[in-house]
Amino acid sequence: MDFGLIQDKAWQSMGKRHSHPDREPGYAYYHGQRVAKIATRLRELVLPAQSGDDDVIVVGSWFHDVGKGIEPHWEYGALICREILQDHCTNEKLKQIVEIVGEHTLRKTKEYPHYVQLVQDADILDHFGSQEIWLNFWHCAYRREALEHSLEFYRESYVEHVAQVRTLLNYPKSVEIFDEKDQFVRTFIERLRREAEGELAID
Ligand SMILES: [Fe+2]
Ligand SMILES: [Fe+2]
Repeated sequence: MDFGLIQDKAWQSMGKRHSHPDREPGYAYYHGQRVAKIATRLRELVLPAQSGDDDVIVVGSWFHDVGKGIEPHWEYGALICREILQDHCTNEKLKQIVEIVGEHTLRKTKEYPHYVQLVQDADILDHFGSQEIWLNFWHCAYRREALEHSLEFYRESYVEHVAQVRTLLNYPKSVEIFDEKDQFVRTFIERLRREAEGELAID
């Protein structure tokens, strides 16, 4: 596979597209790039000897949200990426990539091959930690909501949301990474809450 050319295709289809009202244009492109790195790193950590599918993991991650905005985006995404990539990889690789895109949201509904499970987990992980805060601030800014709205979310919904998403992860290593990210968010939000009330961190 020609990664440079395929990455260009990803940029052309998502680089400037506004596919989600609460997120900045191009989000799906940059999110896909990050998911590819996270999924590959996760593969090294949990399946160190199984590097044979890294190419489909990378390309599947790049395109997993190409259908975003046309729901169900995983089904439309599978069609779109097949169209974009059919002349740029073998039938076997294309089948695996389409599988990743088409099944990335259908977590824990059946036994998935490792290349799907890794992208499913990486997709979740990219929405937590500092990225979670970025998404939350964008969400509030888009709705012109005050900082208090954000703090209300962290006080009333965040813990339940995190506990629910955590059950969807496939690998214990993903849970470990997820928990570290969650801890960072809780520490950050505690400081945000204090500073939003005019307190000083030194007190
Ligand atoms: Fe998605
Ligand atoms: Fe995603």
